[in-house]
Amino acid sequence: MELGLTGKTAIVTGASQGIGLEIARAIHAEGVAVVMVAQSAGKLRDAARDVASASGTDGNDAPPPIPLVADLMLRAEIERVIAESVQRLGSVDILVNNAARAHSGNFFKMPVDEIEKVWQVKGLGYVRFVRMIAPHMMERRSGSIINIIGSTARVPTTDFIIGSMVNAALVNFTRGIARELAQANVRINSISPGWTMTERQNKSIALQAAARKLSFDQVEHEEARGIPLRRLVRMGEIAAMTLLLASDVFGSMTGEDIVIDGGAIPSI
Ligand SMILES: NC(=O)c1ccc[n+]([C@@H]2O[C@H](COP(=O)([O-])OP(=O)(O)OC[C@H]3O[C@@H](n4cnc5c(N)ncnc54)[C@H](OP(=O)(O)O)[C@@H]3O)[C@@H](O)[C@H]2O)c1
Repeated sequence: MELGLTGKTAIVTGASQGIGLEIARAIHAEGVAVVMVAQSAGKLRDAARDVASASGTDGNDAPPPIPLVADLMLRAEIERVIAESVQRLGSVDILVNNAARAHSGNFFKMPVDEIEKVWQVKGLGYVRFVRMIAPHMMERRSGSIINIIGSTARVPTTDFIIGSMVNAALVNFTRGIARELAQANVRINSISPGWTMTERQNKSIALQAAARKLSFDQVEHEEARGIPLRRLVRMGEIAAMTLLLASDVFGSMTGEDIVIDGGAIPSI
């Protein structure tokens, strides 16, 4: 399918690993000039190098990705990332909000400052990015914003209660702001993954399989007992949906949250 993304520009946050890195890879492979943002300099540099290695292959003329190190808990850092991205890319057509702090566990055992950090990076971080980049897109009457949220937005899980709350707030925000952005031809949608096979998860299943002399699929099948399709979501599925939402293939779609979770959460 021709997505028409070649020559566009994008910012992907949380792009040093996991879903964000997979999205950066996919978007760059479509010929998009991409700024990759994360906190740890070394990891981000390696990730950008990995994505850059695809430049010049398969007719991909996208420039090598630009890694920008930033702590997205801080408003001033987000301002800097946006200013630097606009300066280096010329303009920003696509924003993928994806950065988050990984955490889980008992609510009462979670330090209060960790609760605040989870909210700051993902909840406030996504909202601040939209607040600061949308005027730039609205002025150009063009842009697509994709928020990577999570299926716990719909049904909270006890050991992920703060993450669930942040996710619910972000789906509400995505739906709520869409109408205003639409007046300037800017779209905003979200993708809510269920439990996803990131590199970390992949390694853990491979180790278990080796230790128990089982196949990878057998262990995954066991782990995914509560998921009707009995498999974890592949990062490529999230990346592919991001490409569709970034492109004009669904040019009439805005304010939507798309759940990709193997059928785990049957919500409306
Ligand atoms: N994996 C899943 O099963 C799953 C399920 C549902 C939803 N999601 C959502 O999908 C998104 C990606 O998940 P993932 O599992 O791929 O995440 P991950 O592997 O934990 O990676 C998180 C990314 O966010 C960056 N980050 C964290 N704190 C930051 C900060 N203060 N400033 C800048 N960057 C920061 C990390 O960079 P550094 O390492 O440099 O800090 C990293 O690049 C998240 O929003 C997550 O909630 C994931």
